Amino acid sequence: MRIVLLGPPGAGKGTQAQTLKQIFGIPHISTGDLLRQAVKEETNLGNQARAYMDKGELVPDELVTAMVAERLQRSDCASGFLLDGFSRTIAQADALAEELAHSGKKLDGVVSIMVPRADLVERLSGRRVCRECGAMYHERFDPPKRAGVCDKCQGVLYQRSDDNAETVSARLAVYERATAPLLSYYRDRALLYEIDGRGTPEEVCQRITATLKTAQAAHRS
Ligand code: AP5
Ligand code: MG
Ligand code: ZN
Repeated sequence: MRIVLLGPPGAGKGTQAQTLKQIFGIPHISTGDLLRQAVKEETNLGNQARAYMDKGELVPDELVTAMVAERLQRSDCASGFLLDGFSRTIAQADALAEELAHSGKKLDGVVSIMVPRADLVERLSGRRVCRECGAMYHERFDPPKRAGVCDKCQGVLYQRSDDNAETVSARLAVYERATAPLLSYYRDRALLYEIDGRGTPEEVCQRITATLKTAQAAHRS
């Protein structure tokens, strides 16, 4: 399965990807995670991306597209992938389609996770991430057993630097302006599956899995 997870900041793309990658046996590729890693390692890409990310703006298409093209060429993507946070602009969507077409492939589906704005802000403001293993928590909805400490590895939990109120509202505005137009882009190509992202992560996961399995069966028949 070659899947794109689409959705505003805080919709639960990363949370859902953790389970979906196991169910479908495909690698989870988060452009946000790859960029944060590049920033941390102070690579050339990371140094260019940092200022955009700090402001909640998109990193230029050509930088992100090149990063993804390289990642998709790795052998673990041979039988599919779960892209999280890419594509995010029409230019990126065109570039992805072109990249796949080179090897005679195409996307199987685009899952759009829909959550009301007030819930997004609440989810983002309470998010905590483990510095060691990347596990995700939420202060209210999914708190760790000990405040500030990861249940899985005892690592320290931190708040993402772009999860402050000002940057969150910039990210939400960028989503509306640059990414929301992808909904009709993918709808027009009969690839879009719109999923209600409210409820528990388990409920949302069941909706996505049922939808993708139906789509998978339809493709095979
Ligand atoms: P990125 O890391 O992709 O951030 P984002 O799109 O803003 O999305 P988030 O990771 O914030 O949210 P999520 O949907 O993954 O939610 P999560 O599962 O964590 O991008 C960061 C930056 O990198 C961008 O601003 C940009 O600068 C750059 N970038 C990345 N990709 C790019 C691209 N393609 N082009 C250009 N620039 C790019 O959940 C959030 C919280 O809610 C968690 O605490 C979680 O526990 C909780 N939660 C999850 N599900 C539920 C639920 N069902 N109920 C209650 N709580 C829930
Ligand atoms: Mg994420
Ligand atoms: Zn951890």
